[in-house]
Amino acid sequence: MPSLIQAPAPALDDLEAQAAFFQANSYVALPNLLSRGQVARLNEAIDRDRERHPFMWYCEGQRDYNCNLLLTEPLFEITIRQPHVLALVERLMGGAFCFEELSVRHTEPSHEARPTGWHRDRPHWLEHPLHLDYPQVIYYLTDVDEGTHCFTISPEPAEGEVLDKAGQLERGGTVYFYGQAGSAILFNAAALHGVTIRETERHRRIVQVYYGHPQRPCLSEVTLIPPRLWRDHPDPEVRRFYGKINRYNRLMRQAMEIAAVTGPERKKAVRQRLLYLHAATPSIRAQVIGIAQHEPVRGSVTQITTEGQEWPYATVHDAVVDGWQVIQFPDQRAPFDDREIDILGYEFILQQLEEYDE
Ligand SMILES: [Fe+2]
Repeated sequence: MPSLIQAPAPALDDLEAQAAFFQANSYVALPNLLSRGQVARLNEAIDRDRERHPFMWYCEGQRDYNCNLLLTEPLFEITIRQPHVLALVERLMGGAFCFEELSVRHTEPSHEARPTGWHRDRPHWLEHPLHLDYPQVIYYLTDVDEGTHCFTISPEPAEGEVLDKAGQLERGGTVYFYGQAGSAILFNAAALHGVTIRETERHRRIVQVYYGHPQRPCLSEVTLIPPRLWRDHPDPEVRRFYGKINRYNRLMRQAMEIAAVTGPERKKAVRQRLLYLHAATPSIRAQVIGIAQHEPVRGSVTQITTEGQEWPYATVHDAVVDGWQVIQFPDQRAPFDDREIDILGYEFILQQLEEYDE
């Protein structure tokens, strides 16, 4: 099969033609999907982030690769929830799908050409009608042609037999994907693909976005999703879309103590802490001579002591200053010679209301 230098592409507004092309080839080109303005702003965001947060860019000799632009440059959301891509992915996936990974790559000029680094990101999911587990979209942020590095794919029928590299290249040939900045290509990450490095003075920038099925294993452990998307976004569908939690996100949320829910939906419960203070006289400024504290925790032990020297409060007034509220005062008319009062003094009951997450 001859090599093609330019991927054929159905019209951008013809979803069914694109789905049919994908079914036959496991990819579909989406020329000029992003506007010039969007491309310019995304490139500015990359420049800004490489300058401000160089430590966030993984290195292959250069600061060239970052999977966490959602943390610092929210603009990149336009590449993830690009309306046409979402519609096409939904059509191909056949139901609900969710976000998996965002990565941005800046590939520097090269003094030498290198052959295509053919690989499959993940195996095919053979139970899916299109054998599609993880669709991936790549956007070009720089013009790509014969004189630049370029994404390359070997077309294969979506439901066809999975061949080894040599067999697939023999059957499907090679497509070098060229396009202006803003062009995109959607493909099955299980299809045989790679980057072709050319001897060139020009750098290349791409954005890669992966999607997945909600119930399937996570694609990767590299992209952190900020709470503004999975927890605080006003649209529940967006929260669901960003709600697939890989191990990296789970670990970070636990370590950083990021609550799963906030705002009105957060179920706050109130429980009552009780403090019994026994004072020498009915005055709130009298010396405390006994104390009992009841913590509202199942299984907690109530400490009653009349001898402790390390009481938190010397007087009831001290406790009030510390935020306790008196909810019962001692009976001022109690006979002073009452044996119990002799021993325990005058009992004040105080409370603090404590909020906790249900
Ligand atoms: Fe890949």
